[in-house]
Amino acid sequence: MPAAVERTLLLLKPDTVHRGLIGEILSRIERKGLKIIAMKMMALQDSLIEEHYFFHREKPFFPEIVKYMTEGPIVALVVEGDGAIALMRALCGATDCAEAAIGTIRGDYGLTIRYNLIHASDSAETAAVEIPRFFDETEIHPYARKILE
Ligand code: PPS
Repeated sequence: MPAAVERTLLLLKPDTVHRGLIGEILSRIERKGLKIIAMKMMALQDSLIEEHYFFHREKPFFPEIVKYMTEGPIVALVVEGDGAIALMRALCGATDCAEAAIGTIRGDYGLTIRYNLIHASDSAETAAVEIPRFFDETEIHPYARKILE
């Protein structure tokens, strides 16, 4: 039985933008068969970063996250598809690029945990909170595929 259709929030972080890897990562998402239904480039304000990483505010690396996420623009996306949440986490690989399997985005393009290229919602509950944090409903454009569906 196919997994349920899900939506997940992705952030292509400043290192992805600076390194010219936006297209490479978008292509991996599209080639897998997932649908990009919302996308925009943004310069994040500290307040939005602090909200997004609220649960990590006591961690020693929290100031590093805020600095990293303001080192340049990010690209925010909503991706939709069967089992999209787990699938995107699998495509991303382990949080620490040094431990991420070769063949995953972090495994192929990163070296460290600090510069790990991409954020992907970790559960349906998280996605339901994270998507409206970055996108109004009017910015999300679901569509039916004419060929594949
Ligand atoms: S995860 O993927 O949410 O389960 O990972 P977690 O270990 O809970 O980490 C939460 C976010 O903090 C980032 N992180 C770090 N940033 C800088 N330095 C260090 N040492 C570090 N450890 C964790 C990690 O990339 C997660 O951010 P997102 O955007 O969710 O990937």
